[in-house]
Amino acid sequence: MSKKFNIAVVPGDGTGPEVVAEGIKVLDTVAKKSDFSLSYSDFNIGGDHYLETGEILDEKVIDSLEKADAIFLGAIGHPDVKPGILEKGILLNLRFTLDQYINLRPVKLYDGVDTPLKDKGPDDIDFVVVRENTEGLYAGAGGALKRGTPDEVAVQESINTRKGVERCIRFAFEYCRKRNKRKKLTLCGKTNVLTFAFDLWQRTFNEVAKEYPDIETDYAHVDATCMWMVKNPEWFDVIVTDNMFGDIITDLGAMIQGGMGIAAGGNINPEGVSMFEPIGGSAPKYTGKQVINPIASIMAAQLMLETLGEDQAASWIEQSVIKVLRDDIKDVSAGKMGFTTSEVGDLVAEYIEKKF
Ligand code: IPM
Ligand code: MN
Repeated sequence: MSKKFNIAVVPGDGTGPEVVAEGIKVLDTVAKKSDFSLSYSDFNIGGDHYLETGEILDEKVIDSLEKADAIFLGAIGHPDVKPGILEKGILLNLRFTLDQYINLRPVKLYDGVDTPLKDKGPDDIDFVVVRENTEGLYAGAGGALKRGTPDEVAVQESINTRKGVERCIRFAFEYCRKRNKRKKLTLCGKTNVLTFAFDLWQRTFNEVAKEYPDIETDYAHVDATCMWMVKNPEWFDVIVTDNMFGDIITDLGAMIQGGMGIAAGGNINPEGVSMFEPIGGSAPKYTGKQVINPIASIMAAQLMLETLGEDQAASWIEQSVIKVLRDDIKDVSAGKMGFTTSEVGDLVAEYIEKKF
C-alpha cells in the first residue's frame, strides 16, 4: 500500500499564497512519480484573518495542525498589524506548542546564483545551521517595571535548559553524521561573556561529542562566526547554536547563498509534526504581482519531503532547482528573474516531468 501524507497548508499573508502554490505544484509533480501521495488541508491563519476576525490562532486549529504529517507555511506578517502580535501569536506559538525544537537552515550557494562574497563559489558555501528553536531569549521570560517612566526597568532573560540544549546538540551531531560531508560540527556561542548559558552549551557539547568520535568538533564565538561566514565560509559544515544567534546568523547565511528568494527552513520536531517555510517573509509590496521568487518555497517543500523520509523525491526537486537556477533564471531577486513566480514553478515541474 502506498504511503499517504496529510499536509496542512498555511498560505498566510502577502506573497505567501503565491509561493506556496508553486511549492505544491512541484510536490504534486514528484508525488505522481513516486510511491506516496499527498493530500492538503488549507488553514486560513495570518494578518488578514486577524484583522477580519480578531482571532490569532484558535486552539482547535493547533489541534488540527498537530494531527497533520507536516505543515507547509507561506509567510506570516502584515503591514497593518503591530510588530510582535503575529510573530508571537502565530509563528512562535506554533514552534513552541508543537515543540519544534530545531530550526534547520541550509546555506548552500547553487551554480549560477550570485553571492556578494568576492571569489567564493558553490564549493565554498555549503553548510547547515541547526538553531535551537524553543528556548533562549525567545522563551519570553522577563518583564518590565515602571514602564513609560524615567525609572523603567526591562528584563529579558535567556532560558537554557539542559534538556533543551542537549536535544538540540544531539540532533546536530546526528545530522552532521547523516549529511556525511566534512563531518565537522561547530558550536557557535559567546562563552567569553555569556558565562552561564554558554557554559551549559559548551559542557553539553563536549560530553555529547564523546559519543561521536567520527565528527570533528570546533567552537566559534558568534561575532567571529559572522566574520568567518563572510571570510571563509568553506570552514563550516554544520553549525549548532542558540535561538537568537541562530536567527541572526541565518539571515547572513541567506544573503551569502543568494538572498531571501532562495533560503528555506524547517521547524522540526523529530518526534512530532514539523513545519517548513521559505524564510523571506510576506513581502507585502510584491503581493499578487507574481514577481517573487518561489525557489525558497520549493526548497522548503524539498526539506519537507526529506524530513518525511522521501529522499528520492527530495533529491529530484533539488536537482531540478539546480538546473533551473543554472540555466534559466538570470537573476534570483524579485522582479528580475525574467519569469513570473508561476513560470518558475513550471520550469522546475517540467524538468522533473522530463528527467525523472
Ligand atoms: C525567523 C524570523 C522569526 C524569528 C520572526 C518573524 C519571529 O525572523 O524565522 O527567523 O525571529 O525567528
Ligand atoms: Mn529571522
